[in-house]
Amino acid sequence: MKINTILSRITQENQHIAPWSSDLSTATILKFLIQIYSPRSILELGTFLGYGTLSMLEVAPSNSKIYTVDVLNNFLKYYKQLNQIDKKRILFLNQSTDQALSSSLSHVSFDFIFVDADHLFKSILRDTRNSLKLCKSGTIIVLHDTELPGFPGVKYVVNILKVINYICFSSLFDSFSFRTKDIKQKDFTGLEVMRVKYLPRFIYNIINTIFICIDFIIPSQNPPTKEELMTYSRHR
Ligand SMILES: C[S@@+](CC[C@H](N)C(=O)[O-])C[C@H]1O[C@@H](n2cnc3c(N)ncnc32)[C@H](O)[C@@H]1O
Repeated sequence: MKINTILSRITQENQHIAPWSSDLSTATILKFLIQIYSPRSILELGTFLGYGTLSMLEVAPSNSKIYTVDVLNNFLKYYKQLNQIDKKRILFLNQSTDQALSSSLSHVSFDFIFVDADHLFKSILRDTRNSLKLCKSGTIIVLHDTELPGFPGVKYVVNILKVINYICFSSLFDSFSFRTKDIKQKDFTGLEVMRVKYLPRFIYNIINTIFICIDFIIPSQNPPTKEELMTYSRHR
């Protein structure tokens, strides 16, 4: 089945849980970024129904591969509807982002990373820290939901990275934001796009240590369990 047909199905069949799925503006921006940067290896943290995954796949270079990670397996239903060629271009890892980043994917380096799993501050801090390890010069990191009401964690992580970058004379990242005040679509919740300029191992180690210290200082927030996520995704 064609990717855009599956995307329409996802929208039609999941009206009740749609808020968890990327909105049209986010999908359009992702496609735009994929088209201009032509990444070969793409990583998505948080697949859900696969709206973001399939939007990126639709425009990604034919020799590219998308790795997408989620503890839930709602995506499998739509994955099965893909044709054989498209299926080969997606590797769905049905596991936690911690497991995937520190074990299954620890040997891969990515051209494009879309961070969109758990939105608690500590979770994003960890996902971003682990993702940075798999970056190289030129990698694009996109953080979703920088302005999602009630979830300031993404914004905090972006700000921490910007401060570190500023201290390093802006030599680490270029970044630009898609803000809700500029994109006047009701479901759009903000995106930050960061392009790694230069991230040698010793700088990564410093960032890693800073993030671990912040993680240690901030009071514990228990990320939702797999069961809680399943209940939540059914009832939205
Ligand atoms: C906002 S949705 C992802 C939306 C998707 N990227 C899209 O574009 O439509 C967040 C997803 O992250 C998953 N998730 C949350 N915490 C996770 C974790 N620790 N490891 C893996 N997946 C997680 C949830 O199960 C949920 O499906």
